[in-house]
Amino acid sequence: MADLRLNEMKLGIGTWSWGDTLYWGYGKGYQEEDLKRVFHYCLEKGITFFDTAEIYGQGRSETFLGKFSQGINQSLYIASKFMPFPWRLNNKQLDRALEKSLQRLQRDALQLYQIHMPLPPLSVESWMEAMIRVHEAGLIEQIGVSNYSVEKMQKAQAVLLREGIGLATNQVEYHLLNRRIEKNGLMVAAKDSGIRIIAYSPLAMGVLSGKYNEETPPSGFRGRKYNRQFLHQIKPLLLEMGRIGVKYDGKSIAQVAINWVIAKGAIPIPGVKNLEQAQQNIEAANWTLSDSDIAILDALSDKVLEQ
Ligand SMILES: NC(=O)c1ccc[n+]([C@@H]2O[C@H](COP(=O)([O-])OP(=O)(O)OC[C@H]3O[C@@H](n4cnc5c(N)ncnc54)[C@H](OP(=O)(O)O)[C@@H]3O)[C@@H](O)[C@H]2O)c1
Repeated sequence: MADLRLNEMKLGIGTWSWGDTLYWGYGKGYQEEDLKRVFHYCLEKGITFFDTAEIYGQGRSETFLGKFSQGINQSLYIASKFMPFPWRLNNKQLDRALEKSLQRLQRDALQLYQIHMPLPPLSVESWMEAMIRVHEAGLIEQIGVSNYSVEKMQKAQAVLLREGIGLATNQVEYHLLNRRIEKNGLMVAAKDSGIRIIAYSPLAMGVLSGKYNEETPPSGFRGRKYNRQFLHQIKPLLLEMGRIGVKYDGKSIAQVAINWVIAKGAIPIPGVKNLEQAQQNIEAANWTLSDSDIAILDALSDKVLEQ
């Protein structure tokens, strides 16, 4: 049965960093105890949507979610992802990967299962056929894709519709520093087909919190993606976000960034490492930017992106 809760959800929580040492430095600055606190705080605030993937922290993100959710009586909306690695040459490997994800998550079924990205050699159609199989077996409630273009998304949707199943979601990068989906037709195509957009990296990996700048850029892979020159370029946008936030009872730059995504009709899934970030990010959904402030942010973001 389709889970209609997704339509009512304003925000979910991204858990890529939960247990990931390579990219996010799990174990240095945040530990399992911080994540457990985040998880229970989210439930307290009515946030039940958690996005994970078999590859996050090499399975540790799913394992944490499974562990933390033992004994709770709230119904969760858990979204995980299957990675179609090029060496996965048979679509039955999706069934096996799902079984392992469910074991780590300690659940009988997932609310949403997504193909992480459209990698060759197996076709979009072949993975959708596998999705239909596990859907019919009652192991997943809804089917999603991630990083799919308009064309691939429509291909996936067509296969599912033949069986009377709708494609529920397409999870893509979307924030004030990346508005590709507004320009390449994906956002409109998804809306027209009743497919929800889940916006990943809504804070541009922390850059849209305003805490990184030319003097203190982020380290590691984030520093390569968002270098000093880029951080210099986005200064006017961050300044304006700060000014706008003040007008709404002192909202932070991060809260403005997340609220902007919601205003555009997508579901942001900000990543959080500790209670403070969870408190701020969840609070970002409980107010609304005015149309004129959205227009100001759009114009400024267009300007930085064009430079
Ligand atoms: N489908 C895909 O291919 C794909 C790709 C990427 C992400 N995702 C999903 O999207 C989720 C979110 O994306 P993301 O984690 O890449 O980036 P994000 O949500 O844009 O940024 C998250 C990072 O920003 C910092 N942060 C979070 N809240 C903050 C706040 N209030 N103030 C200051 N800093 C804050 C934290 O890192 P620091 O404290 O270290 O700065 C946090 O780990 C992931 O967890 C994952 O579930 C999916």
